[in-house]
Amino acid sequence: MKPVKIGLLGLGTVGGGTVNVLRRNASEISRRAGREIQIARIATRNLARARICDTSGLEVTTDPHAVVDDPDIQIVVELIGGEVPAKDLVLRALNRGKHVVTANKMLIALHGNEIFAEASRRGLMVAFEAAVAGGIPIIKTLREGLAGNRVEWVAGIINGTCNFILTEMRDKGRDFDSVLKEAQALGYAEADPAFDIEGTDTAHKLTILASIAFGIPLQFQRVYVEGITGITATDVAYAEALGYRIKLLGIARRTERGVELRVHPTLIPERRLIANVAGVMNAILVKGDAVGPTLYYGAGAGAEPTASSVVADLVDVVRTLTSDSENRVPHLAFQPQSISDIPVLGIDEVETAYYLRLNAEDKPGVLADIARILANQGISIEALIQKEAPTGASHLPIIMITHRVLERELNAALAQIEALDTIQGPAVRIRLETLK
Ligand code: HSE
Repeated sequence: MKPVKIGLLGLGTVGGGTVNVLRRNASEISRRAGREIQIARIATRNLARARICDTSGLEVTTDPHAVVDDPDIQIVVELIGGEVPAKDLVLRALNRGKHVVTANKMLIALHGNEIFAEASRRGLMVAFEAAVAGGIPIIKTLREGLAGNRVEWVAGIINGTCNFILTEMRDKGRDFDSVLKEAQALGYAEADPAFDIEGTDTAHKLTILASIAFGIPLQFQRVYVEGITGITATDVAYAEALGYRIKLLGIARRTERGVELRVHPTLIPERRLIANVAGVMNAILVKGDAVGPTLYYGAGAGAEPTASSVVADLVDVVRTLTSDSENRVPHLAFQPQSISDIPVLGIDEVETAYYLRLNAEDKPGVLADIARILANQGISIEALIQKEAPTGASHLPIIMITHRVLERELNAALAQIEALDTIQGPAVRIRLETLK
């Protein structure tokens, strides 16, 4: 059979890794795909990037349209990232009848509904395994491996930069900013690292996972997002003293009232495997009704781990080039006409447990006041630490773990507690999941 010609858009970390993997493993890959996969053209904004991998014999251009419009190219691999110009290029490729492979989580989370509709109209595939959790084949797992299950919840560490920062803070007592700089230097962080530390990148990936897990439309705007910038070494240490680790989790949970979609720092019992995922590694826990809890672990970023997913998608697309488009695995796992509009719950309606840290005046009755307010709101305390006030200080830290409660009710209680004369400043509140 004739080789399949592909075109690459973008020659950054992932683009370079993809060229290297395609070249190094060419024979294994064609044995799997049934045809040779040939890179026909590569477009990169900066031709000096051509040196990051072995581009000898390959045509490298600065014009992305030369790739998208090349009639010999059957599959366009979009590795530019971001919305502009990636979205226009992907739609243009589809308009020209080309299948697309992309690692672009933002593009899929924000514009996936439109892109998949266009692809389906034209009988084309848009594959995006590399968009979530780098080298972990979580899209394939959810879409195919767990297809017999009713997925109950998904909880993932899906941003390596944040996990690296939280790990270094806990293990080495390092401060936030210096670890972030190192993550940038190592190439883990997004071009604008605010996307990492403010939770947006995790929310993009969670949007995709939730859609595939529950058969709901991609709805990034409905995700509650809180990043890790407010996490202090103090809370990391108290969490540890109570037997927990703090991780930035993306959580999608199906409840009787709707779907929870939320990204926030979360205390997890340290005995859970996922609590021990360190550094830039990613891990995703998926609870299916038939299979029970399953855990997927691996490199969530980096050149070759991400290329591993890009190339797997290429093999999938090549294998299905000749198959009937109606009978392919649907983009969002469920048949397009069966995507359901289950409501997404606001964060007030989410039920979870909490870690609270209050700064309280060191005098009799303060703890009783706090306990009374919590009890009146129906909130019970699971654990409590009251530290001695530092010498000369008038206030002392009180750290509490609550049982599960609706966020709305916790907010009502916290408003009353913060209004007490004996409480200084706002309470620190971090959500807690036992992930049982
Ligand atoms: N900035 C992302 C991360 C890269 O740190 O996980 C992979 O999507």
